[in-house]
Amino acid sequence: MSVLPADPHLPVAHLRPPRNWINDPNGLAFHDGHYHVCFQYNPYGPEHAHMHWGHFRSPDLIDWEELPVALTPTPGGEDADGCFSGNAVSHGDRLIAFYSAYRTDRWAQPVTTAESRDDGVTWTPRGSLLIPDLPDGATMYRDPYVWREAGRWRMLVGAALADGRAAALLYESDDLERWEYRGPFLAGAPRTVAPDGDTGLGWECPQYLHANGRGALLVGAWDPELGPRRTVAFPGREQDGRFLADTPALLDHGPDFYAPALLSAPDGRWLLWGWAWEARDPEWVREAGWSGLLTFPREVTLAEDGSVRQRPAAELLALRDERAVTATGETSGTAVLGTVGPSFDLTARLEPRTATSATGLRLVTSADGTEYLDIRIDPEAGELVVDRDHSSLDPRAHGGTFRVPCPEAKAAAGAPVELRLVVDRSVAELYLPSGQTLTLRFYPVGGTPWRIEARSGGGGSLRYTVGAWNLRPYTMRHATGTPAESAPSDVGLVRP
Ligand code: FRU
Repeated sequence: MSVLPADPHLPVAHLRPPRNWINDPNGLAFHDGHYHVCFQYNPYGPEHAHMHWGHFRSPDLIDWEELPVALTPTPGGEDADGCFSGNAVSHGDRLIAFYSAYRTDRWAQPVTTAESRDDGVTWTPRGSLLIPDLPDGATMYRDPYVWREAGRWRMLVGAALADGRAAALLYESDDLERWEYRGPFLAGAPRTVAPDGDTGLGWECPQYLHANGRGALLVGAWDPELGPRRTVAFPGREQDGRFLADTPALLDHGPDFYAPALLSAPDGRWLLWGWAWEARDPEWVREAGWSGLLTFPREVTLAEDGSVRQRPAAELLALRDERAVTATGETSGTAVLGTVGPSFDLTARLEPRTATSATGLRLVTSADGTEYLDIRIDPEAGELVVDRDHSSLDPRAHGGTFRVPCPEAKAAAGAPVELRLVVDRSVAELYLPSGQTLTLRFYPVGGTPWRIEARSGGGGSLRYTVGAWNLRPYTMRHATGTPAESAPSDVGLVRP
């Protein structure tokens, strides 16, 4: 069993190693009875540098094992400055990683591979590029995603094109070795998906979810200025190697979700992990010695209207420990519903009578009530608002209010607002029955226990039914002999 980490913000039920930098989930595959989850990892410090692939595996998404670092940059090699993102496929006894080979002198990152024949414990890098040249017109190029479909292997690579469009480029192969370029699977000029965001000038981490003739292309919207990065889902369907996309939408409505990665599970489910980055000043990150975490694994499905729906993987119900809150009632002010630990899973059903914009739930994280995270109903917009402006007494934490569509929140909807909120120390994931999600980081410093309140302002009242369970930590067996342990992990250490 893991011991609770002393750092109050280090998650216990979200994957990440105890120290140092991580970003994108990579190399997701079900192989040899295990879910394999790799991730962008700097074993030497809490900043983005020297990217390796860290590696976890689990038979059930609950009991995890940290395997030795899977991919390490080869000094003087094609990936000398980083094994950047990609995925993996399980093929017989082979686990094959496809990834972006990064060198600082290279703007675009060609595709290479590494292979394991002992279920992911050791890996042999290819030592050369698999696809050395970019197709004509590609400027930015990275993050292969390989899958098997209709008797052949297919690959998407994220790209930016010289004509200003972002693209996911399609390749096909019979043997995973010789790849033929088929052209853009989808390409498009930037389109607005949020008041402050569009689909970008290039796409990172393209992922392709497909079932029953329909599909969704998930991409990280990228622009060279590195403005706010958003994750976008294009619903649609394929026709002869081209993806016919409908209107794109945000995949997650929070500020701290990026780099989606899919795993096609043997039971037919699509599972998705994302990267939740830090939302606090770099100086605090350096002090903490770690950065980033992976979201809960999410089951992803396509709704009738083509939209992408997400909910926590069913297995994660097993992380629910004792029930901390059971509350049903009505308030026209503030009702204290109970206390929770810093990692909990909450479900709520909220029925406002004359909702005002002060109606909702509050997670109070300091005894004096001045530190809190709010989830409020906006009856005019038909949205839930997550407000983290007061969620940390430490000024180095970032604030902001964020919105997720929730038609039931409309005053006239006549239907209760239902939600599930998973909080794990410094990450909150909000899931709505519509399959919409909102992921954000926050950094309470007020101490525990935390308090759940139902609130109704402005003369209205709120009926509520709320249940919350404290979460027990994942079990995690740590590997030995990984660079994290064999090299000093001081901030700013230069790679040996
Ligand atoms: C996305 C990304 C990928 C790249 C990797 C590098 O967050 O920028 O496009 O391969 O991270 O760490």
